Amino acid sequence: MCGIVGYIGHREASDVIIKGLKRLEYRGYDSAGIAISNGELQISKGKGKVAILEASLLATPIKGTLGIGHTRWATHGEPNDVNAHPHTGNTRKFAIVHNGIIENYDVLKKELQKNGCTFIGETDTEVLAHLIEEVQRVSKADFETSVQIALKQVVGTYGLAIVNHDEPDKLIIARKGSPLLLGIGDGETFVASDASPIIEYTNKVVYLDDDEMAVITRNGYEVKTIRNVKITKEIHELEMSIEQIEKGGYPHFMLKEINEQVDTISDCMRGRLQVKANDIKLGGIEPVLDKLVNARRILIAACGTSWHSGLVGEYLFEYLAKMPVEVEYASEFRYREPLIDDKDVLIVLSQSGETADTLAALREAKERGATVIGICNVVGSTIARETDAGVYIHAGPEIGVASTKAFTAQVTVLTMMAMKLGKMRGVLSEEKFHELAVALSEIPGKVKEILQQAEKVEEIAKMFTYAPNFLYLGRSYNFPVALEGALKLKEISYIHAEGYPAAEMKHGPIALIDEHMPVVVLAVTNHVNEKMISNIEEVRARKGRILSVTNERNTDVIRLSEFAITIPETHDCLTPLLTVIPLQLLSYYIAVNRKCHVDQPRNLAKSVTVE
Ligand code: AGP
Ligand code: GLU
Repeated sequence: MCGIVGYIGHREASDVIIKGLKRLEYRGYDSAGIAISNGELQISKGKGKVAILEASLLATPIKGTLGIGHTRWATHGEPNDVNAHPHTGNTRKFAIVHNGIIENYDVLKKELQKNGCTFIGETDTEVLAHLIEEVQRVSKADFETSVQIALKQVVGTYGLAIVNHDEPDKLIIARKGSPLLLGIGDGETFVASDASPIIEYTNKVVYLDDDEMAVITRNGYEVKTIRNVKITKEIHELEMSIEQIEKGGYPHFMLKEINEQVDTISDCMRGRLQVKANDIKLGGIEPVLDKLVNARRILIAACGTSWHSGLVGEYLFEYLAKMPVEVEYASEFRYREPLIDDKDVLIVLSQSGETADTLAALREAKERGATVIGICNVVGSTIARETDAGVYIHAGPEIGVASTKAFTAQVTVLTMMAMKLGKMRGVLSEEKFHELAVALSEIPGKVKEILQQAEKVEEIAKMFTYAPNFLYLGRSYNFPVALEGALKLKEISYIHAEGYPAAEMKHGPIALIDEHMPVVVLAVTNHVNEKMISNIEEVRARKGRILSVTNERNTDVIRLSEFAITIPETHDCLTPLLTVIPLQLLSYYIAVNRKCHVDQPRNLAKSVTVE
């Protein structure tokens, strides 16, 4: 994935770039590097986080007002100093930072080696640096044309920023598959993978689309296609504020984002859920509502946490709108010739709106004629722009790599969509709709009540901090929440955890249970409560340690649990919005106790823009 920042203007480029890279570290933090063009092309880079690069620049500053920077999430080549970006060719004429994968790098590398290029690292990106240099050596073309010729030979994905020793007042960027945008300031231009590095300087942005490049000089910028056709791009105004992307007194973004859910769920419903009018308005999907109501079936494609909210969506659409739904891992959907056509609707869920697998699923479905609806958080993201229609979840920037507030906001949107469809299809009565609308409007207050129990969860977390394994069990709407709880724990605390439909446990995982195994059960008072209680008994009979998330009146569950966290009651189909909160807190506190890097867990990145 990687984060890219570029700058040309009157400020010290390294200041803008370091600050920007820190904001993009959620995209990767294996290594960081910077290239400044100031007559010389000066590069500083190395393994580890941006703070290490910052310290080395403090010791040995690089002055200059034009530069590029990178924070890496390695795909090709170990995270070490040599593989850190920027990369150069043999003559060190061009320095390049890259987000994506050059799929034909091996073929290109062999060709380049035959021509005398010497490689010092293992990245696919280094091939690109040599290629541009070699193209220019052979063709004698200018900077821009050399980049264009080189890119035509490349198979794969890229967001690129390139500086050239011989043209110290020019910066070239190009995009195919990995996001890049321009920030338009007064006499200065910014480049970044998302808007967070530039929001404090300007709110005017231009989103680059695939196969486009921009040539940026001190006099402004010009956007064209890789095939050299000029394009006039729309300038968008950002609505994000700087406060939204800062920690606001919390020790970690994750904790801040967990606590924000009272507001984010409300924000997501604002103007949409109309309790008095007994209606739901989702402006973004109005143009495709007919299509949706009459769809043969709904497919949902997503990855990770977004896939879990998609699973909750399946239960919601089937129950409330009586529509058949299939939920797909976006990465699998794409490669198995999916049976989807113009009678189907695909909903893609993505916090970042940039996940490569989800984007590929979207494109595949579109190509096969399906209507595609996006549920994204990042406004203007690629998925948001490529879908036929969509609903923003309005959760505000989610910086913690572990997704929390995006999950609840996605489930809120899916609930509203399912209710709307149910009503339009005549399968959800006015009374039932009203009952649910009221219940949904009460969710933020109930989330607040749960958050007030954070200290209790913190205490419980102490008991389980060193458990090597965890099992999470749920049924019905809370089966996806069990998966989500397990994912949260493994990604930030590195504890092995599995989520299962509670009854499925007896078909295998029960063999794992002994007196050391914590089993988190989601047991709310609903139609499967009795069954859940039997599953709890099965765990207890094997001496497993029960930690339950339940309701106060579920006294049997409380009695059978070593620890019980109680949550307020709500309609069964809305419980995922509540049961997930203690699980987020539990994983957070366990990770903190284990001294893990909560916001930037190892090997992960926030937005996975490679397949
Ligand atoms: C969630 O905690 C994960 N870090 C990850 O699974 C994430 O949900 C997934 O990569 C999908 O991201 P998206 O929603 O931005 O598409
Ligand atoms: N493929 C490049 C590398 O490994 C960029 C990685 C990325 O964008 O994730 O360094």
